[in-house]
Amino acid sequence: MLEVGCWRHILENMDILKIAQFAEGISIAAGKILLREFRSKGILISYKSRTNLVTNIDKESEIFIFNCIKKEYPDHSIIAEEGSRREIEGEFIWYIDPMDATNNYAHGIHHFCISIGIFSTEMKKTVVGIVYDPFHDELFKGIINSGAFLNGTRITISEVNDIGISIIATGFPYNKVDRERNNLIEFNRVLPFVQGIRRMGSAALDLSYVACGRFDGYWEPGLFSWDMAAGSLIVEEAGGKVSKYDGSPFDPEYPEILATNGKIHNRLMGLLKS
Ligand code: IPD
Ligand code: CA
Ligand code: CA
Repeated sequence: MLEVGCWRHILENMDILKIAQFAEGISIAAGKILLREFRSKGILISYKSRTNLVTNIDKESEIFIFNCIKKEYPDHSIIAEEGSRREIEGEFIWYIDPMDATNNYAHGIHHFCISIGIFSTEMKKTVVGIVYDPFHDELFKGIINSGAFLNGTRITISEVNDIGISIIATGFPYNKVDRERNNLIEFNRVLPFVQGIRRMGSAALDLSYVACGRFDGYWEPGLFSWDMAAGSLIVEEAGGKVSKYDGSPFDPEYPEILATNGKIHNRLMGLLKS
């Protein structure tokens, strides 16, 4: 006979799997919204600042996702990039980026996604991460203690342990005027020691690419919880390591991330602060 604690654990896992399945479904549906207008005249651009743009499609995607969650899980909190908020006393917080890489999308570049991370305040961890790239129909998923998957097939991080032959991704914050924080200092420190650096324009996909071994590592400052929550779990569940720049534990509310296959983590950490 199973003990009470054990049953509780099984039931919690079933809840998490159900939430993950639901999050997967709404990401795919939101992906259809993004694809419907991609490279069309139906995209209307407005500016949050000179370099930070947003489109009507970001907002449509966010409203769709927000309403679906509110209906299915009225007792869950939601924090979404374009301003939708729902603060409820309870275990789960959904961090939503309704379109990551809006700049790519607005310029017709086919690299963008939807990112949904579900954080448990009891476990103090993201428990489900979904990153969906609708153009390539690639769905990355991480479920706590259960692994990471790309379109249902298990993924793992790369085997590269020599930073000299590594491909590393990074990104630059919208506020590039502040030289101390615009990432150029760190970029110059890392560049000479790696095989290549990529700036693809989507933090959530950068993390997912680390998880499936396309990239060996990734760092970026100035990010938000909706950029990082989902992808950070996917990396960890694929066997990788995620932390702040100094190696201390990752926190989705703290605006920086260093994620690697684990094997080059210390070396990249050393370069960032050298
Ligand atoms: C941006 C992307 C980009 C990163 C920026 C983010 P958005 O998100 O993730 O790769 O460099 O810092 O803000 O604004 O396109 O959702
Ligand atoms: Ca984003
Ligand atoms: Ca966004």
